[in-house]
Amino acid sequence: MKRIIFTATLFATVAFGANVNACKACHGADLKTANIMGTTSQDITAMSKADFIAAMEGYKDGTYGGAKKALMKGQANMVKDSAAFADALGLK
Ligand code: HEC
Repeated sequence: MKRIIFTATLFATVAFGANVNACKACHGADLKTANIMGTTSQDITAMSKADFIAAMEGYKDGTYGGAKKALMKGQANMVKDSAAFADALGLK
């Protein structure tokens, strides 16, 4: 059941400028990978919608992130509507 919901989410995500498949290369197939390129990221699926939006918008304007924030800036810029993206990921 959980798998079906996740798959439906992936299709919904395609409509928002970036495909979640692009995120999986680094964040893992389940978006829970913590250790990425010598730095750390939260389990994205455990983030609140508000925290996700704040992180994505912060990466875009350079006010959020750690040592590898420049790397995420390019990724965040592909996500035109981070609120819609959060909804597509099922974040509350
Ligand atoms: C090339 C590898 C890569 C890709 C692709 C990538 N990320 Fe990231 N992401 C990272 C790294 C590295 C970090 C930690 C950056 C830092 O130092 O702040 C991160 C951090 C994040 C965070 C913040 C997590 C926290 O701990 O606060 C979010 C949210 C996030 N990524 C979402 C996404 C989304 C959504 C996508 C797809 C559109 C994506 N990422 C694609 C490498 C990637």
